[in-house]
Amino acid sequence: MSATFTVRLQRPGADPVQFEAPPDLPVLLAAERAGIAMESSCRNGTCRSCICLMDAGSVAYRIAWPGLSLDEKREGWILPCVAHATADLQLTCPL
Ligand code: FES
Repeated sequence: MSATFTVRLQRPGADPVQFEAPPDLPVLLAAERAGIAMESSCRNGTCRSCICLMDAGSVAYRIAWPGLSLDEKREGWILPCVAHATADLQLTCPL
């Protein structure tokens, strides 16, 4: 069994929540597995409805180019529906 990473998630008007994310599961699905609903629509890295700011940690994508600009990636924006944790994460989600 592979190691999991801890994700701490802050959403507007809600207390922070924490869940475990295995590296083989997108962060969004790991949240749902833990009973935490995150904003989403397409679930394939296109619509950006799941976008969150990564305040700490790192992620990897298994699709060639998720719907983020290079500047957005540099600023720390991620798309949890297609992002796999590669370290413990601290996320702030605007929705
Ligand atoms: S749900 Fe559409 S980009 Fe994540």
